Parts: sequence; C-alpha cells; structure tokens
Amino acid sequence: MKNILESHYVQEMIEATSNMYRLGWDERNGGNISYLLSEEEVSEYINLNQVIRHIPLEFDGSELVGNYFITTGSGKYFKNVKSKPAECLGLFRIANSGKELELLWGFDNESLPTSELPSHLMSHIARLKVDSQHRIVMHCHASHLLAMSFTHSLDPRDFTRTLWQMCTECLVVFPEGIEIIPWLVPGTTEIGMATAEKMQTARLVIWPYHGIYGSGTTMDEVFGLIETAEKAAQVYTYVQAQGGVKQTITDENLIQLAERFGVTPKANYLTD
Ligand code: 13P
Ligand code: ZN
Repeated sequence: MKNILESHYVQEMIEATSNMYRLGWDERNGGNISYLLSEEEVSEYINLNQVIRHIPLEFDGSELVGNYFITTGSGKYFKNVKSKPAECLGLFRIANSGKELELLWGFDNESLPTSELPSHLMSHIARLKVDSQHRIVMHCHASHLLAMSFTHSLDPRDFTRTLWQMCTECLVVFPEGIEIIPWLVPGTTEIGMATAEKMQTARLVIWPYHGIYGSGTTMDEVFGLIETAEKAAQVYTYVQAQGGVKQTITDENLIQLAERFGVTPKANYLTD
C-alpha cells in the first residue's frame, strides 16, 4: 500500500487549507472542504474493508451510498492541517444504510467530520445531477464577500451584477452568477437543503453574515471561483471607500465579453 499522506488528494487538501488560511478566509476552525474520491483513488492507499469507526449521519445519505469522501474535521484549524493531516482530515464511505459514515482513514483522536456535512453532502448530490464531473465543495469565511453581505442588496441578480462589474474576469469565471440563501443556523439540515437547492443552478452560494460555498470539478476550479468572487468583493470595498462608482463595465461590455469567451450569462441578468 502506498502512503496516503503522499496521495494527490491529501496533498490538495493541505495546499487548499493552507492557502485559505493564508488569505484570511478561515480564522480559527472556520471553513470546510469535502472531496469526492473514486474507489480506485482510495484503494491505492487504504484497505477498503478496514472500517475504523462508524459515525452517524444526521440526514438521509442514501443517494450517496458507496461514495468515498475526504473532508476536513469539525473544529479543526486550517492552519494546522499541514502539520496534523491525520487528525484534521478524514476519509470515509457512505454506508449502505445511508445513515452512517464508515471511517477508513484519519479523524485521529476521536475527531469528527465537519459540522457542515449536511450542506456538503446535499450540495454534492445536487451538483452531481447537473455535472457528472463534479467533485469538490468548499466553504470559507471570505472577508470581503462576508462584509458585502451587510452593505449590499442581497438580491442575487443585484449582487451578481455588482461582482461582474468589479473585475472584467468575473463574468467569464462565473457566468451563471452567484446565489444567496437567507441567514440560517449553520450545521443544520435546513441550511444544507437551502444551499443544495441553490447549487442546482450555481457553483457559488453566499451565506449572508457568514461566508460562501463553492463547488466544482477540481480544487483549482473551486478555489479560483471563490478567489475571483472574493477579489471582486475586495475591489467593491475599495470602490466604496474611494467614494463610490463613477463609471463601470456596461452591460454592452459584458455581452461582448460573453461572446468573446463563449459563456452564457445567467438569463435576464443583463439588459439585453
Ligand atoms: P467546522 O469546524 O465544523 O467545519 O465548522 C466551521 C464552519 O465554518 C462552520 O460554518
Ligand atoms: Zn462557516
């Protein structure tokens, strides 16, 4: 068996969490990541028949039975993932009952998966229905997006349009726009259902006064999505501090961009 610490997925989890901490998106234990793995990827490194622990699941995970995930642990600090991967991360399979997880590696010292597992697993279910290549869900407390949720309209069309206008790249990176749920108690099945519902049409979902969820096929894609939206929110913060918008990217410009880069902006989000 190969050393799992050298697997591409443990390395990607370490790299992503370290970068997210470095960028100030994940204070204390803030943020969580889940990564859907294939059986082949897992079996190279661990014995699939050796279940270390059974962990109850609070909602019905039947749709994901037999699937493997590596996730961050609850209460774990992203700054520590690199030095304590086997405690801060865990790899599990969804049991046949759909009601528990079979821990196969990690979550040392009785650690548990992220408390946001409902939002993660329900988002995986939603995204897999629209994208068979989907693999990753990432949550963090990106500072400028979080701040914007206090000062900007929370209408998803308004919010998306502002972000598209703050950096020329944005429309190309997330043409489907950003979705927003109401404020809800974190870690609950309720917030999981609300997030997953929005994930049916978008890869980015704002949790007002809390943070953001991103999803996609690769770690780079999801990280880049959040990074781009967060950069736009940072520019918005500067623009507001400098006295507000005097001129901006027009809808006509955005349409030209969409044509040039072959993306389809969310319907009715531009005037034409
Ligand atoms: P966990 O430490 O349980 O992953 O929770 C962090 C968080 O960001 C809650 O929304
Ligand atoms: Zn959070």
